[in-house]
Amino acid sequence: MADNQLANAWIRVAPARVNLLGEHTDYTGGMVMPMAIPFHTEARIRRVEGAISTMSTAMFPGKRIIEQGVAPQAEGNWSDYPTGVLVEFQKLGIEVPSFDLELAGNVPFGAGLSSSASVEVATCMALLALTGKKMPTTEIALLCQRAENLFVNSPCGIMDQAVVTAAHEGHALMLNTRDLTFDLVPMNTGALAGVTVVVVNSEVKHSVATGSYGDRRREAEAGQKAMVDRFGLRDLGDATMEQVEQVAAELDPIVLKRVRHIVSENARVREAGEAMRAGDAVRMGEIMLRGHVSMRDDYEITCPEVDFLVECARVQPGCYGARMTGGGFGGCTVNLVANEQVESFTESVLRQYEAAYGIKGEVYPCHAVDGAVALSEKEQA
Ligand code: GLA
Repeated sequence: MADNQLANAWIRVAPARVNLLGEHTDYTGGMVMPMAIPFHTEARIRRVEGAISTMSTAMFPGKRIIEQGVAPQAEGNWSDYPTGVLVEFQKLGIEVPSFDLELAGNVPFGAGLSSSASVEVATCMALLALTGKKMPTTEIALLCQRAENLFVNSPCGIMDQAVVTAAHEGHALMLNTRDLTFDLVPMNTGALAGVTVVVVNSEVKHSVATGSYGDRRREAEAGQKAMVDRFGLRDLGDATMEQVEQVAAELDPIVLKRVRHIVSENARVREAGEAMRAGDAVRMGEIMLRGHVSMRDDYEITCPEVDFLVECARVQPGCYGARMTGGGFGGCTVNLVANEQVESFTESVLRQYEAAYGIKGEVYPCHAVDGAVALSEKEQA
């Protein structure tokens, strides 16, 4: 039995991600610049006899039981994420034998580092191994997004699932979320070898499934509809700031602010691509700071704690730029810091943050790692 179990066991790993630039642009056909970072979710899957599959994790209590032939329902807990992925396999008509799935990992939850996408993609890769199916990288990302949108009922865009799946070591992805095409932009290598991406966790928890993320999405989509109707665009990804100015008087003031953030953010991602290719950390940092102001004032998704962290970071020696990263309303900031200053940056920012808010933040110096597909290919080579 033990041998048999081992012969039918697979392990698949998916990383977390940090977004360098391009926030809340991924549900209106815009540009994003995320990279995968060295946190991970590990999925161990084992084929079992009988009609019962289970999902468990040491990270949360409770075991999910799924019976062959019985349609799973959302339970409002961690297990909805992997179950949603299984449901998407079933919808595709892929026959999934009974299994035990165990999830383990170290991605901080509610920190805006894509713990959800990491769980979804690791589960998807494990189910692919179990069923012996192959799926194009883009399909994996889209399947996981559908799992989250439809089963978990969380209105996320495609950025997280795309980068967690498709990332490559030493690079950020300059990703067009309209068609999921991307360029690999060198990070922590070449001319940018002298800077570290430092993630600072405010420990203010956020969730895409609940809270104001959905409100922002609805406001952005209202703005997109107005711009599409007026200018015949495909989506906001095509809009220019000149067009935004032309319709400004006709738009609801809140919608105008949302559109202004998205259109200017798309331009900032393109500008950031140039800066990174040129190895220009100074320019990249300056673009990140502008991005933060836009999230704070126009998209209104920051909070006092992350605003403080950015203000504090930007004046530290060796810090090129800082901004909030991820869905917003808390979570993490991302900072570009000269390698030799990372230690003093960390000490100073954490000390000032605790003095101001009484919260012990956490700091994660990161480098760009492989996504789940590249990891799996290397593992099997
Ligand atoms: C969350 C969502 C993403 C994206 C970001 C904001 O991480 O899951 O799809 O919208 O917020 O950029």
